[in-house]
Parts: sequence; structure tokens; C-alpha cells
Amino acid sequence: MIDIQNLTMHFGDDRVLEGVSASIPEGEVVSVIGPSGAGKSTFLRCINRLETPQSGHIFIGGEDILAPGADVPRIRRKTGMVFQSFNLFDHLTVLDNLILGPVRILNEAREVAEARGHELLRMVGLGEKALSLPCELSGGQKQRVAIARCLSMRPKVMLFDEPTSALDPTMVSEVLAVIRRLTREGMTMVIVTHELNFARDVSNRIFYMDEGGIYESGPPDQIMRAPQREKTRVFINRLRSFRYRIEHKDFDVFEMNADIETFCEKHFFRRKLMQHIQLAIEESLSLYFLRGNPGAITLTLSYSETEGTVQLLFEDQEASGDFLKAAEAGDELALTILKGIVHDIVWQPTPKGNRIVMTLNETS
Ligand SMILES: Nc1ncnc2c1ncn2[C@@H]1O[C@H](COP(=O)(O)OP(=O)(O)OP(=O)(O)O)[C@@H](O)[C@H]1O
Ligand SMILES: [Mg+2]
Repeated sequence: MIDIQNLTMHFGDDRVLEGVSASIPEGEVVSVIGPSGAGKSTFLRCINRLETPQSGHIFIGGEDILAPGADVPRIRRKTGMVFQSFNLFDHLTVLDNLILGPVRILNEAREVAEARGHELLRMVGLGEKALSLPCELSGGQKQRVAIARCLSMRPKVMLFDEPTSALDPTMVSEVLAVIRRLTREGMTMVIVTHELNFARDVSNRIFYMDEGGIYESGPPDQIMRAPQREKTRVFINRLRSFRYRIEHKDFDVFEMNADIETFCEKHFFRRKLMQHIQLAIEESLSLYFLRGNPGAITLTLSYSETEGTVQLLFEDQEASGDFLKAAEAGDELALTILKGIVHDIVWQPTPKGNRIVMTLNETS
């Protein structure tokens, strides 16, 4: 369905895409991940001809969309693109947003377009909202309308550029559910996303972009669990872990908890697990700071999908003794609470300090 050969796209001296090739068969879902500035959006925009690359070929359904004299507006209709911002027409009702393109551009009869518009709205769960204005919808609802509007143009391919990054975390899953449904219907899709769990669930392949191209590609399990190349490994691990340095007992606990919450939401942790994580961290730190005036401590929270566990690693550079042992002697309440929620606690003294590893089960 999509065949890309030797695509090169530079912005001045910025060599964003350098000889990129990829082939995506009909019905395949590819997620694209990678650091900011790697060229993920540029890659999508080339497929949609929103950018004109310096060289290379892109075939969509066998047609070379970069051929000289190609009919760009018609080619652009082959691919529907959903952006972070919904780009709905604010002065039109939801239904009118959906029928404008089919009537004006595809010359569909209004009744046909309306019937299809209603059908698409039902598909994205918004059958009741046909006559609402975009301003009356939540972010997640707007994004679902934007997806329905793309589908109304009967594209052969759907491209998504971080469709959930502008949304409140509570609205992410309703949009992902709609995209998931499209994968079941056999739509060919390329999805740029930071939602790793989602990418793993819906994609046949993942492209990790870096160094001017597709640095590594493979089935989701391979990319997530056994990436073959260094930069992929570093990227995946960084997304899976969260590091926090606590300098002082009067640190900003609210800020830390908000960051932990974001991390947990990104990985779709259940609320109870998130609360346990926050409680375990708070209790551990309160025990730690009980010991008078200890030095800084670094907390790393990491999630292992294979094991279904969350690990809390506390690194205490001062090597000033095991705060948990001290607490045990004092029979602290905090320690009792901690032991109630943490599956396993291991203390590893190292020459550089103490490492305390606590493990929580995903199902705890
Ligand atoms: N229209 C443009 N003019 C000049 N440079 C551009 C243009 N669009 C993108 N770039 C540059 O191309 C590079 C890749 O940008 P792109 O938006 O494709 O990255 P990205 O991987 O989508 O990043 P992010 O994750 O932040 O969205 C960046 O260095 C960017 O500054
Ligand atoms: Mg981008």
C-alpha cells in the first residue's frame, strides 16, 4: 500500500530524512516512535505530500505521488491525516464538519454524505453529537470527530501524528479505542505516538526513528523487549523509567507525586497501583529523613512489562547505613505500612552507597 524508496528531505542544512526506505502492505499498522526532532512528523507529512522531499519515491497503492505533474490534491485525499490539534471548523456542526469534504470535493450527494456522516459518528461513539458545535465537545470527543472527518473522505491510508498528546490523560483511552477499532477493520495506518503500550497492542511493526531515518524496525515485542541497537535501547528504557533526585526533607512532594502520576498514566497503571507507589515512596522517604540530616537520595521508578512489576530503586550516595534496618529497630509505623504494600524489599550495599530495591506487583 505504501512503498517508500530512498526518501531524502533536508531543511537547509538540517538533514532530517536521509535515504529512507520502507514498505507497508495493505492492512498493516505501523507505529513510529523516536526522540523529538527525529523527523517523525516530517516522514508523515511527506507521505501526505504536505512536504515535498528533495528526492526519492513514495508509491501509494502503486501510484508515484512524487512524480512530476502528479495531482497533489487528489493524492492527498488517499491519506487521511489526524493531527495533535483537531483542526475542526468551529462554526460548523459536527455533522457539517463531516460532510463538507465529501460534498464539495468528492461531489457526493448531500443525503449520501449525511447518512455516512451519521454512521461514522456512531462508529466513534458520538452518534448523539451530530448537531453539536465543536466548542461543546471535550478534547477527546473533538479528536474522535476529527478521525471521523478523515474517514468521511474514504482514505486508503490513515496517518496519525501524536493524536493523543494534546489531550487530558482521562481522554486518551477513548481516542485510542477508536484507532484500535480501525485496526480491526483492516485500515492501513501509520501512527506517530508516545503511547508505548498502545503501540505494542495495535501495531504489526514499530519504526524507531533516529539519525535521519528508520534506525530500527521490527515487531513490537522485539523493539520493546529486545531492541537490537543501542539508541533504541536507551530510548525504550528512558520511557520506562522515571528518575527523581531528592535533596532535602522539605522537597516538593506535590510536584513529585504529579510526575509519578503522569508516569503511571502513560503506562496505564491501575489507580490502586499508582496510590501504592506514591505511598511506598512517601513512607520510604519519611523513614530516610528520620535519620537526622542525610544527604541526597535518588529515586528511580521503573516498570518491567515482562515481569509485570514496578521497581522503586533508592540510591543513597552517602552510604550512611541502611535506613530500613534502623527503622526496624525502632519499630516504625511507616515500615509496617511499607511492608503491607511492597511485595519485596532488597537492600544492596555498594561501594558507592546503598541501593534499596522495592518491588510492587502490577496486580497488587
Ligand atoms: N518546515 C520546516 N522548516 C524547517 N525545519 C523544519 C521544518 N519542519 C521540521 N523541521 C525540522 O526538521 C526536524 C524534524 O522535525 P519533525 O517535526 O519531523 O520531528 P519529530 O520527530 O516529529 O519531533 P517531535 O517528536 O518533537 O514532534 C527538526 O529539526 C525540525 O526543526
Ligand atoms: Mg512531530
